[in-house]
Amino acid sequence: QKWAQQTGRLRHRHVLVTAGGTRERIDPVRFISNDSSGKMGYAIATAAANEGADVTLVSSTTTLSAPAGVEIVHVAGAKEMLNQMQHRFAQQDAVIMAAAVADFRPVEEATQKIKKTADNDTMTIKLTKNPDILKTLATQKTKQVMVGFAAETEHLLANAQQKLTDKKLDMLVANDVSRKDIGFNADNNQVIILRPNQEPEKLPIMTKSELAAELVDRVVTLLPGK
Ligand code: CTP
Ligand code: CA
Repeated sequence: QKWAQQTGRLRHRHVLVTAGGTRERIDPVRFISNDSSGKMGYAIATAAANEGADVTLVSSTTTLSAPAGVEIVHVAGAKEMLNQMQHRFAQQDAVIMAAAVADFRPVEEATQKIKKTADNDTMTIKLTKNPDILKTLATQKTKQVMVGFAAETEHLLANAQQKLTDKKLDMLVANDVSRKDIGFNADNNQVIILRPNQEPEKLPIMTKSELAAELVDRVVTLLPGK
């Protein structure tokens, strides 16, 4: 399945990429999710593989096909995503968290399809907070370069800066998702890259695969021994 990549700046490096919006089950036929298409994560996995990395792509359900030369792990909800990442984390050199993880999941997953009843015109689904995957992994960090994304509709820089610090990231990619031409589901993206103790770097608008190459480029320079 894996291509023997002979060249590239990420040869012998392990890179874990996540993609897509997690699906949090309500019942066997329903879930809570978000508008993430998975395109950015898949583009990053492809770009890292092009640099010769051993790439594992932990992906929730998308319409995309697995990039060539990448090991793909399919997951649904955030808890499953965390589980699949946790036992792979120690061997990784970089983790790039492009997935749009649902912040909450239903407290209970019904085993049977929930029926509507004649006497109830409203219904309530009680939600509980999902684990913060980046924060959880940060507590187990040894050598890993940690990259997160921030999807914001307002106060982009301030919110993104907070996440960089909060999640102890080496790099945060800030994305204004209030614009339809960039962000969720779009083919193009325009981001601001934040690093600890550095001026924000605003990149021009570009395709997600161009941006993926730019991000992988920066990850290469952050790896110890590079
Ligand atoms: N993330 C995560 N685990 C979660 C939620 C988010 O690892 N439970 C990651 C995302 O994959 C992303 C980064 O954290 O790389 C920021 O996600 P975002 O949704 O922008 O931030 P949150 O910390 O969830 O804060 P909020 O949604 O309230 O802005
Ligand atoms: Ca969130």
